[in-house]
Amino acid sequence: MPVMPMIEVLGEPILIQEVGMRDGLQSAGSMVSTEDKIRLLNRLSSLRFHKIEVTSFVSPKAVPLLADAEDVLKSIDRNPSTLYTALIPNIRGLERALNTIVDEVNVVMSVSEVHNLSNFRMRCDESIEQIIQVVRESGHIKVNGTLATAFGCPFTGQIDEKLVIDWAQRYIDIGIDSLTIADTIGAATPRQVNSLVSQLLRRFPEVEITLHLHNTRGLGIANVFAGISAGIRNFDASFGGIGGCPFAPGATGNVCTEDLVHALRYDDFLCEVDLEALITVTDELEEILTRPLPGLVRQSGTRDRIHPMSDNLKSLLNNS
Ligand code: COA
Ligand code: ZN
Repeated sequence: MPVMPMIEVLGEPILIQEVGMRDGLQSAGSMVSTEDKIRLLNRLSSLRFHKIEVTSFVSPKAVPLLADAEDVLKSIDRNPSTLYTALIPNIRGLERALNTIVDEVNVVMSVSEVHNLSNFRMRCDESIEQIIQVVRESGHIKVNGTLATAFGCPFTGQIDEKLVIDWAQRYIDIGIDSLTIADTIGAATPRQVNSLVSQLLRRFPEVEITLHLHNTRGLGIANVFAGISAGIRNFDASFGGIGGCPFAPGATGNVCTEDLVHALRYDDFLCEVDLEALITVTDELEEILTRPLPGLVRQSGTRDRIHPMSDNLKSLLNNS
């Protein structure tokens, strides 16, 4: 599989969707108030994200932490250059979304039958029936289709690339507008990412494909760069590195947005997101969640950070 030299893509913007308010808060462990969510979203809106996934319209019994989806979407300030999206699992989710203001709905199904049953209490065929109806009734709202567990299932293990490609074809046949390939449990390696997305891009050159990568085993950013090499320009990330599907045992946070923006900036890619301001928003998130968040750059400072020299070091330097 030929790998595109990085130099050829340095001038192209890398677009980030901030998913922490959905993927992160759905599994935050503690309830975040509606007011805090609105304040965080308003701050995130000023940071030049391509998209923000605001919340999800799922059963409040399944995910009580996002039960206030309507109230949040009703109250946030919007940046006209950012797209606002929300996850939905079924037609009931679309009905709720259509009663608010969203630019897009993100329909999700897992390519693994077992994870789909765990997550949505439906078989894949039942999910796709719901999604067909969603596409038909979505009106002016765009529909992004996510394929979860594309690199591994927490219950059945390895996932065949062909299964993902076949489901992607099905999504495209029914008329989704864009596609997200999700490594729900952080199982992917860079070589696997390169292999799968190269095939998808070759087969569906007109479709915008986003990678949604969890950092469960420390390969999140390496996998992003593998995706860039293969030709992907859209990535999901989560401020503070929070996140995880509550119905996928062992799933932990997404690629951390600050760490990703930092990596892109210092590797000379174009990425619009305001890193310094984002770090202060994540500081606020950490205060709200009252636990240390996993992102690294916020702890270490950016690569430009200069530490003061001790007097001892200064005298060694002067006397050497
Ligand atoms: N929003 C709000 N409520 C919903 C809903 C939605 N999108 N879809 C169904 N419901 C309600 C029904 O109205 C019904 O309510 P009632 O008990 O008061 O009558 C109840 O949920 C059960 O409905 P049913 O269709 O039987 O759903 P289910 O119990 O089989 O659950 C899902 C199916 C998809 C609704 C549920 O599993 C779910 O929301 N999962 C989301 C998981 C998730 O968010 N995972 C992480 C993101 S990938
Ligand atoms: Zn996720």
